Amino acid sequence: MWRVKPLDAILATAEKKSLHRSLGAFQLTMLGIGAVIGTGIFVLTAEAAQKAGPGMMLSFVIAGVVCAVAALCYAEMASMVPVSGSAYTYSYAVMGELIAWMVGWALILEYAVAAGAVSVGWSGYVVGLIEHTFHIDIPSALVLGPFDGGMINLPAMAIAALVTWLLVIGTKESATVNAILVAIKVAALTLFIVLALPVMRSEQFSPFAPLGFGGISAAAASIFFAYVGFDAVSTAAEETKNPQRNMPIGLIGSLGICTIFYLLVAAGVIGTVGAQPVFGAGGQPLDPGSRELAAQCAALGDNAVVCSKEALAWTLRQIGWPQIGNLLGLAAGLALPSVILMMMFGQTRIFFVMSRDGLLPAAFSKIHPKFNTPHVITIITGVAVALFAAFFPVGQLANISNSGTLFAFAAVSIAVMVIRRKDPTRHRPFRTPLIYVTAPIAIAGCLYLFFSLDHKSIILFVIWAAIGLAVYFGYSRSRSHVGRGIVEVHEDDPEVPPVPVPPMPGAPTPGNKQA
Ligand code: ALA
Repeated sequence: MWRVKPLDAILATAEKKSLHRSLGAFQLTMLGIGAVIGTGIFVLTAEAAQKAGPGMMLSFVIAGVVCAVAALCYAEMASMVPVSGSAYTYSYAVMGELIAWMVGWALILEYAVAAGAVSVGWSGYVVGLIEHTFHIDIPSALVLGPFDGGMINLPAMAIAALVTWLLVIGTKESATVNAILVAIKVAALTLFIVLALPVMRSEQFSPFAPLGFGGISAAAASIFFAYVGFDAVSTAAEETKNPQRNMPIGLIGSLGICTIFYLLVAAGVIGTVGAQPVFGAGGQPLDPGSRELAAQCAALGDNAVVCSKEALAWTLRQIGWPQIGNLLGLAAGLALPSVILMMMFGQTRIFFVMSRDGLLPAAFSKIHPKFNTPHVITIITGVAVALFAAFFPVGQLANISNSGTLFAFAAVSIAVMVIRRKDPTRHRPFRTPLIYVTAPIAIAGCLYLFFSLDHKSIILFVIWAAIGLAVYFGYSRSRSHVGRGIVEVHEDDPEVPPVPVPPMPGAPTPGNKQA
């Protein structure tokens, strides 16, 4: 179980033929912003407020810093091992099959559950938009999950199904579409900031941390979700011109720009409508996404940002810009599906590589004869995402996703140090600066955020890991291709889907020519 997949075999497997070094710092930054801005800022701002109050501004900074150091570690691995499977593949090469399996298993949480979270976030905005534009009241039983006071979230299921279908027929986002969606998201957030900042009042910022530093940490652990997706930048290492210069600019640039936007947006929400948590009737703090909070919000007539499923649109309506609020809802409705698409795309490719390595059934990596996509695994993923989206609250899904992502980031930060020792001479297009400082900070940051998650998410992560171990020892270990001495080279394999490397909207990969 400590067997490793030799790096040279992994690299031979990589379909690198048609990748050109064409991405510069600007395109990388656009890639990053396209993948990152989503449900986190549009929806989870309300959850962060419920946990930390105005202190959520600090939470955004903490989560951003942890992501930045993890990103620098990610980038070295991604540039050295630019193949499908990201953290799973790196771990296989460096720390052995069992850890790789556990990372891959955790990435299922990262990607599939995140896709569910973004679907629920999308649903909140689209339902709000329809209700406010057409002045109708859609029954909450059909548009909210059971923990949020409804029964089933049908719009969230529908968007997950639509994205699944797009992936089955092989849709990829072109650079142009990515650029347009980035422009829409950035314009929506800018408009929000421009309208909110002039009417801010400083007294809204106090008390700054009504639930103490524990609340700020818990909010940081949730809002970490708002930054997830920058790994898209590091996976594009191989197509980057002068990666040693452009990769850190792309990573830190997109994270930095997002952090500034997030801070301004958070300040706008806090300063205008206030962001104090809603407490229970007995004065006790209430968890976001809980039935108790839903009940308390109903009693308050939903008159607090923490009660809103569309925090930014709600804020604009409150401060006298209802039409712009609707416009912002429209922007979210248009742009969030591309984040779902990237998450699900990443998920199917991770499954695909694990199946190709023999750790999951071979049927998973079947390729559709016409569409040339791994349709079986895409549909299985889509069904799971739709079910998550139908029944669970957005914040809970985001936290569960974060637990998997934090595990994977920590594993990559360890791997990058291990391989510096084991294989110091291998060519590294990008080297993590001050690695023995950066990587330990990344690991410590991931641990700190992981243990700041709510107990439910941590317990679910542990249960998920235990199931993973059972599957590994019961199924995968004896079927592993590396274990059976099969080292495949897929370089010329027509069965391999055309875009093996996970989410890269707008990257000039085969079938996704630069517009
Ligand atoms: N960072 C992405 C979002 O907030 C996942 O939707």
